[in-house]
Amino acid sequence: MILIVGGAGYIGSHVNKVLNENGYDTLILDNFSYGHHELIPGADVIEGDLGDGELLDKIFQDYPISGVMHFAAFTYVGESVTHPIRYYHNNTTNTLNLLQSMIKNKVKNFIFSSTCAVYGVPEKIPLTENHPLNPINPYGRSKLMVEEMLRDFSRAYDFNYISLRYFNAAGATPDAKTGEWHQPETHLIPLILDAALGVRDRISIFGTDYPTPDGTCIRDYIHVLDLAQAHIKAMEYLEKNNKSQIFNLGNGQGFSVREVIECCRKVTGEDIQVEEENRRLGDPPVLLGSSKKAEELLGWKVEWVELEDIIATAWKWHKKLYADYK
Ligand code: UFG
Repeated sequence: MILIVGGAGYIGSHVNKVLNENGYDTLILDNFSYGHHELIPGADVIEGDLGDGELLDKIFQDYPISGVMHFAAFTYVGESVTHPIRYYHNNTTNTLNLLQSMIKNKVKNFIFSSTCAVYGVPEKIPLTENHPLNPINPYGRSKLMVEEMLRDFSRAYDFNYISLRYFNAAGATPDAKTGEWHQPETHLIPLILDAALGVRDRISIFGTDYPTPDGTCIRDYIHVLDLAQAHIKAMEYLEKNNKSQIFNLGNGQGFSVREVIECCRKVTGEDIQVEEENRRLGDPPVLLGSSKKAEELLGWKVEWVELEDIIATAWKWHKKLYADYK
């Protein structure tokens, strides 16, 4: 049985679903500060907090947990700059608590949701796992600190991990049963789709003077179901090889903010209004990754290659989100 911490959130809920479809038993631990019950129908769930060491010990004693996947993090880059304590507390301290309990209870396989934000401003594109780590926001630093703990723990204890450095997760299941649902929403694609749906007037472009061809930030958008598949491969790798690893998970293609807006216009057929604004704090100009290492060692490959297809799944879900839940 796999414990999915933060399994009611965007990425965790999709990983839970794909694990179940592949025959894995799962148990979700979530405090529902950001998660949604609607994203995990029928799942086994414990409502509780990562800061609660006694609860964690009890879970490891009561359930046959063979591995843990950890998604329970705050991910608002801008907020991490203005409220860093929240990020170090939730993303770093609470993860230490989880790791302590795992080690105490002899649960040795751990998959960590890391981020390309650990690299900071790229010196070389595409980013590979051995690129220098110089995060430029507290969010990235809060995750990098965990990666450093993981490295030390795997050397000292009977404990192995895989750290997955996600690029920009996007999309939804093609049947639109689950998808991206953040409250508040700050991510580019759902906000553009809000404008397409008419629930907001326009999309703001944060910064048009970046050193990129059209002046707006470039990101690597990867479908959430491709991320989910990588988690399964990563857990299989840990079970088979007993060896810790770090992998980038990206699509390998970069799209500027203006290009993403244009693609959303095409997918939705709506004329989306834009407003050019100042840069947002903590944004690197380009984040674009090579996932070659994951392809080679995990035998994983991106299936959702086209941004248009990724956005089409997000659009179908987005309409349902407003019709049924918001
Ligand atoms: N952007 C806009 N207007 C908006 C929202 C975003 O121009 O209204 C821009 C941002 O400035 C950025 C790009 O669109 O340049 C993408 O922004 P997102 O907020 O969608 O995503 P981020 O790249 O900031 O962050 C996301 C996740 C992080 C993760 C990071 C890695 O939230 O957890 O991707 O790139 F670490």
